[in-house]
Amino acid sequence: MSKFDKTILVTGGAGFIGSHVVRLFVNKYANYKIVNGDALTYAGNLENLKDVQGKPNYAFAKIDITDEAGVEELFNQYHFDAVIHLAAESHVDRSILDPLAFVKTNVLGTAILLNACRKHWNGNYDGKLFYHVSTDEVYGSLGETGFFTEETPYDPHSPYSASKAASDHFVMAYHDTYGMPVVMSNCSNNYGSHHFPEKLIPLMINNIKNNKPLPVYGKGENVRDWLFVEDHARAIDTIFHNGKLGASYNVGGFNEWKNIDLVHLLCSIMDKKLGRAEGDSAKLITYVKDRAGHDLRYAIDATKLNKELGWSPSLQFEEGLEKTVEWYLSNEEWINHVTSGDYQKYYDVQYEKR
Ligand code: NAD
Ligand code: DAU
Repeated sequence: MSKFDKTILVTGGAGFIGSHVVRLFVNKYANYKIVNGDALTYAGNLENLKDVQGKPNYAFAKIDITDEAGVEELFNQYHFDAVIHLAAESHVDRSILDPLAFVKTNVLGTAILLNACRKHWNGNYDGKLFYHVSTDEVYGSLGETGFFTEETPYDPHSPYSASKAASDHFVMAYHDTYGMPVVMSNCSNNYGSHHFPEKLIPLMINNIKNNKPLPVYGKGENVRDWLFVEDHARAIDTIFHNGKLGASYNVGGFNEWKNIDLVHLLCSIMDKKLGRAEGDSAKLITYVKDRAGHDLRYAIDATKLNKELGWSPSLQFEEGLEKTVEWYLSNEEWINHVTSGDYQKYYDVQYEKR
């Protein structure tokens, strides 16, 4: 008999959003055992979770979700009550270069996890839950006006968003076919600490700091809807505990920014923080070739989540961005380890060679 009320597998817990979800759950729920299952790809970084390592309700398992036998073994070891599934290939530009890696992890990996739940729970779904973390990109691209709601038809354009859309359909198919208790959320762009610096905001912060060019795709007119990552983690907590089975919830901050305006805002925050003259960092802005198939605009309508489950974002964007810049400037070691590749040695040193 486990001394915990629930044993939860969080996949992708060493990544950006996953590490915030793991931290929130480990610290908030001493009665839950949180198992972080992650393959530690280039995007997985256990240094993100130094502060929870060693806590009695936390464990790490190095697992590739596309390895069916390995996933089965993990389920036999832990007898999970729930899965919060974040593991994915997550970067659109990489999906353009290597689409099959996205099909493998995002589609096959999700199906393998669902199937492990089906086999392990064997029709006894009492207290069980498969929570799938997805993206607003499955809805495609908006014009100048309008919002994505939960009823917006799927219309993915990049290999990344197509693979996420396929995984969403598998999750709902397991609900409809096998009666599996599932819940899903589709979130807008996240920002905050521990964000891998290939994505827009951490890339710009790092390049501004190092006086490197700031590559803005196309004319910088594309619009993204930004949410502080800790608010996303809180939304996942809310939906995990109170979401309606078989439902999906849109998560977003009603916070749209044109890329170029956002980059200017970051430049101006960084000018102040680094003691540069206003306008200095913006001189680094360099317009580069546009992303292929670049979606023009995303905007999430998160009304359902607010009305039904009472969630709303806690931070204003400028405040969240200040906090994020502050984090990057005061965590030089983290960023140095990521850019040098040293973060990939952390597992060997801390886990395997103990
Ligand atoms: P990330 O790239 O930072 O982290 C992904 C994690 O998954 C890494 O730790 C990586 O090691 C792990 N992983 C990758 N392939 C794996 C495999 N085959 N087996 C096990 N682990 C594997 O991603 P993120 O930005 O934190 O996104 C997490 C989830 O949230 C993804 O499902 C993504 O689609 C979704 N999402 C992200 C955003 C965003 O703005 N970043 C917004 C909405 C939804
Ligand atoms: O909308 C949610 C999605 O947000 C998530 O599902 C994805 O996992 C996540 O990576 C993110 O996707 P985007 O493609 O929107 O994020 P990215 O940071 O790569 O790019 C944000 C915008 O900035 C996009 O319009 C492309 C642009 N961009 C990006 C980079 C890396 C640039 O102009 N220059 C850059 O160097």
